[in-house]
Order: sequence, then structure tokens, then C-alpha cells
Amino acid sequence: MKVVFIGDIVGQVGRDTVKRLLPWLKDRYQPHIVIANGENAAGGRGINAAITRELFAAGVQGITMGNHTWDNREIFDFIDDEARMIRPANLPPGTPGRGYTIIKSGSRELGIVNLIGRTFLPPSDCPFRKADEIIDELRRKTKCILVDFHAEATSEKIAMGWHLDGRASVVLGTHTHVQTNDDRILPEGTAYVTDAGMTGPRDGVLGMERESVIRKFITGMPARFQVAETKWHLNGLFVDIDEATGKAVSVRTIRVDEDSWIPA
Ligand SMILES: [Fe+2]
Ligand SMILES: [Fe+2]
Repeated sequence: MKVVFIGDIVGQVGRDTVKRLLPWLKDRYQPHIVIANGENAAGGRGINAAITRELFAAGVQGITMGNHTWDNREIFDFIDDEARMIRPANLPPGTPGRGYTIIKSGSRELGIVNLIGRTFLPPSDCPFRKADEIIDELRRKTKCILVDFHAEATSEKIAMGWHLDGRASVVLGTHTHVQTNDDRILPEGTAYVTDAGMTGPRDGVLGMERESVIRKFITGMPARFQVAETKWHLNGLFVDIDEATGKAVSVRTIRVDEDSWIPA
């Protein structure tokens, strides 16, 4: 099973990038399933119903979230009914939405789990224990499982990769918006990357308009950041999973920008 994961989609530039590149990504990687992180899809802060529909219409089949899940209040209107939207699983019991699901594409099934880290992020339940619980449950239904671990600290993400090696097909990090150069298959067959990177404005600061971020660093004064309007880049991960074993057979980061992209 070939899977393409698109890193944090930031604002309209990010959404337009996904729409522009999906036909090319499909042609190049022949994915059976496309998953994207959408926590910054609406102006950098959360997601709404129209944008969710827009991403599904573009060919995304599942959307994972993160610390910005609740930034756009519209999500409360539809998250309980949208089975393809996955928010961090280790939020307190009773939180709206779901933290894992199975995405079906033809005869193929991919379990998707979203977890959030506890280092340099607001308090949450233990992502490691929650991962154990969910993966036990999912593995009764499918061996193919992708975990989006939305976390700040590289150490926490690397630890999760090792913790789930051989039990998840893919453990990929999101949240930092900066792609790391450590994609590999761990010894027991889990494809791993510390961060898949972001999709959206290339020349801002993590997707936001750079002047206001620089000003905030210099002055220390509060500021409200807007999504940058610059050239785009798309960052993500391609993984090929052996469906018989659930182990990854190949993994490679995807990194394209406006200057390097040559349309098919
Ligand atoms: Fe993000
Ligand atoms: Fe985040």
C-alpha cells in the first residue's frame, strides 16, 4: 500500500499548493491513500467545514490535526460526524471527535492515529500509553497503521518511533513545520521521520508573515500573525507498506517548492 502524507497545510497558500500538486503527486507516487495534517488550514489556525470539504474534494482522504485543533470554533459543528477527521487521541476523555480511525480506499485499509506530545506543549494524557492502547485495538482490524505524532521535541518523537517500531507501519512527526532529514525504516519495519515539514508559504516563518514574527522577537510585544503570502513549498512523506505484514518497505521525504517544481 502506497501512502502519501502531506505535512501541515498552512492557510490558503497551503490549500492552493495541495490542489495544484495533488495530480502531480498521484502521478509520481501512485498513492492508494493520501493523508494530510490540516491543523493550520484555515488562516493558520484550525480548520472549518468548507476547507475540510475543499481538501477532501482535492483528493485528501484523511485529515490529522494537532495543538491548533480547536482554534476555529466551527470544528465543533462537524467533528463528531466527520469520520475522516482525526484529532489528537490523548486529549481528555469526552473531548469531541476521534483520535484514530480506519481509512478505506478500495479493498485497502489504513489505520490512522493522531497523538500530541507533552514536551513544550499544553498538558495532555500520556501519548505513549495511549498509542499502546489504540494500536492493540487497531491491529485486530488492520496491520497497516500510520501514526502522526504532533510534537515539538525531536527526542519525544524519536522515542515514539522506537516505542512503536514493529507495531506501526509509519510513525511520522508533524508540528515543527520544518522537515527533518532522518527518514528511515527502523529495524522492526516502522517507517519513521521526525518531522514531515509544512505545506504553504515558503518564505515566512513556519508559514506566517515574517516581518511581524521578527518584530515580535525584537520588541517582545504581543502580535497576531497572518499567513505569509510568498512562494509555496510542499513537504511530506511517501511510504510503501507491505500489506501482508504491515511493515514499511520504503520511505522517502517529499520536498517540492515553487522554484524546483516541474509540472508533469
Ligand atoms: Fe502546524
Ligand atoms: Fe502544531
